[in-house]
Amino acid sequence: MSDISREELDEIYAFAVELGKQAGQMLKDAAQLRMDGGNRTKEQDEHVQKMNAVDLVTETDEDVEAFIKNRITEKYPAHKFVGEESYSKGSSRDYLIDESPTWCVDPLDGTVNYIHLFPMFCVSIAFIHKNKPLIGVIYAPFINQFFSSCAGRGAFLNETQKLPLIRNPVAPMPEKAPAGCVFSCEWGKDRRDIPDGNMHRKIESFVNMAAELGGRSGRGGMVHGVRSLGSATLDLAYVAMGSFDIWWEGGCWEWDVAAGIAILLEAGGLMTTANPPPDEATCPIPDVKLGSRLYLAIRPAGPSSTETGRQSQERTVREVWRRVRNLDYSRPGA
Ligand code: IPD
Repeated sequence: MSDISREELDEIYAFAVELGKQAGQMLKDAAQLRMDGGNRTKEQDEHVQKMNAVDLVTETDEDVEAFIKNRITEKYPAHKFVGEESYSKGSSRDYLIDESPTWCVDPLDGTVNYIHLFPMFCVSIAFIHKNKPLIGVIYAPFINQFFSSCAGRGAFLNETQKLPLIRNPVAPMPEKAPAGCVFSCEWGKDRRDIPDGNMHRKIESFVNMAAELGGRSGRGGMVHGVRSLGSATLDLAYVAMGSFDIWWEGGCWEWDVAAGIAILLEAGGLMTTANPPPDEATCPIPDVKLGSRLYLAIRPAGPSSTETGRQSQERTVREVWRRVRNLDYSRPGA
């Protein structure tokens, strides 16, 4: 299939929305069963480690992924499917998404949150064509938040509230950004305590963003607040809402971000790489690479008397790059 018509895309969107609702309900029911001490066996409640003690999978992740995959394969047998749990079982870490119509799914993003019943967990479903995430559906059933978008149709919270939330007007990025911004980031799963490893580079970057202006040899960003939801795709949805201004992260995978990227871009956000390029002050802002594992997101922004919204987003990107360290996450084929 080379091109997808408007009509076909709208039909795929309607299907993805229904699928997201059903899968989110499965997550909610599974959590409710755990709370009720219902008929879920101990084995079903147990989680197993993947890469290390914080990289976990539960039976719920696997059940929900199987459900989603079956529904997609029945309805669209020609489409490709990349899901976190099926992918993690294979030995290759190659980037598998190409030009073909592809579903990229995280059945349960925020697995640690789900295990601890911290409510920021969700199902995340993206439809990608020609390497572009065109449709995003994210449902966080414990907090009743359903995010959806389709290219050319807008991005929404609970199907009626258009994103970003504040729209008349959409505010430009603050003049002294990152000062005045809410900065979201994730500690991630690379916990190796090695000098200059990813964990220490992230911490240095977080402190730079938080420190008072003039501190940290001019790198202090004095952001309003630092937040970590524990779900990359929900972080992105919150940037699309405008509740977070900036999200910076390395280490997660395409299923953690694909639906969030679709929603953020449709809402008017900007998405690029976490790692500052060598000519960070002047280079054109590169488009995000879905499989790069390196992400920087800026919320939708409107014009001021001196800048377009895009200019204020790009200014913010460069100010973030000036304060963060390069992260070391590699990826064959991305
Ligand atoms: C994780 C979450 C987390 C991010 C990790 C992801 P999972 O996904 O999105 O916020 O920091 O890199 O792997 O394991 O909960 O699906």
